[in-house]
Amino acid sequence: MLIGVPKEIKTHEYRVGLTPDAVREYVAAGHRVVVEKNAGAGIGASDDLYRRAGALIAGDASEIFATAEMVVKVKEPQRSEWVQLRTDQILFTYLHLAPDPEQAKGLMKSGCTAIAYETVTDAHGGLPLLAPMSEVAGRLAIEAAGAALKRHAGGRGLLIGGVPGVQPARIVVIGGGVVGTHAARMAAGLGAEVTILDCSLPRLRELDDLFQGRVRTRFSTIATVEEEVFAADVVIGAVLVPGASAPKLVSRAMLSSMRKGAVIVDVAIDQGGCFETSRPTTHADPTYEVDGVIHYCVANMPGAVPLTSSHALNNATLPFGLALANKGFAAVLENPHLRAGLNVHRGWLTHKTVAESLDLPFSPIDRAKA
Ligand SMILES: NC(=O)c1ccc[n+]([C@@H]2O[C@H](COP(=O)([O-])OP(=O)(O)OC[C@H]3O[C@@H](n4cnc5c(N)ncnc54)[C@H](O)[C@@H]3O)[C@@H](O)[C@H]2O)c1
Repeated sequence: MLIGVPKEIKTHEYRVGLTPDAVREYVAAGHRVVVEKNAGAGIGASDDLYRRAGALIAGDASEIFATAEMVVKVKEPQRSEWVQLRTDQILFTYLHLAPDPEQAKGLMKSGCTAIAYETVTDAHGGLPLLAPMSEVAGRLAIEAAGAALKRHAGGRGLLIGGVPGVQPARIVVIGGGVVGTHAARMAAGLGAEVTILDCSLPRLRELDDLFQGRVRTRFSTIATVEEEVFAADVVIGAVLVPGASAPKLVSRAMLSSMRKGAVIVDVAIDQGGCFETSRPTTHADPTYEVDGVIHYCVANMPGAVPLTSSHALNNATLPFGLALANKGFAAVLENPHLRAGLNVHRGWLTHKTVAESLDLPFSPIDRAKA
């Protein structure tokens, strides 16, 4: 199969769909890979390095969209990209369609087969292609919070870990999945006072075991969210209902009862955000203030550390990408975990939760296949 890797075009997105190491694996498996000129510049991977890994270098993205049988990216396609996609071309990337009807309709119109990293599953009920970026985003969330808490940035002027004799920051993490766990681990490591809220009791038990009393756990209800948010210096939004828009757990009205200069880091912004006042921001201008509360809502946080992120992502996507390259669409039909990743196929929305979130018709794979 001919695999194409365009350069990412979203603002401050420096990750790349395939690293040179991953290209070597595709080439070793008998595939051809074409990479856009400078696609790896953000991670220090030169065109020469890609050539040595066996890739061909294309002068621009249009060459890749015109020829590749499978396009491997990182971020959801932008309008200029989705209009170039074709029927039966496989798109393998993050999509986050639930809050993005325009992109969903664009992909449906193209006729392409779009597999979303974020809904591919594993045998343990996890999301293996979301997990590595969630690990990165969770850890970065605490760095972002630390920066925003500084007085010159509008924050309370608080050092996360405090110093001996002075209390540390109170950090509340809503959603104790991968993002939440890694955020809590970093925050606890810095010496913060950390509470994780989750609506899954089994998950709270696991977290309790994992942190051995170093982090408090609380069952998430309207009352506990309110109580914890009002007392927090930092609130990390890390909830996920797979394929759906994030539930709004913190309303605008609640902000007036929060501490002035407190910081919200809404990591779930890529699914619409779990704070009513969240709107997506970029690394170029990551924060804004509402009612005295600093909001950090960067939708592609791992893009800030593209070297770590590209390698972490490729480690996870490689086996699925190789299966698609080896078997084409048959890999989706054969493998229930790849099938869970199928969001759009030949003009149909094939992921039930995504279709429901968008209020558009859902088509099970059998009908879509026809
Ligand atoms: N902004 C970014 O750059 C970035 C990067 C990576 C991930 N994310 C996003 O972060 C979010 C979390 O991802 P994850 O990998 O940790 O997901 P996950 O599935 O591992 O964890 C989500 C957790 O949220 C909990 N949850 C669901 N509803 C809840 C509620 N009402 N109250 C409390 N907890 C609730 C679930 O029980 C689960 O434990 C997702 O939206 C993901 O797309 C964003």
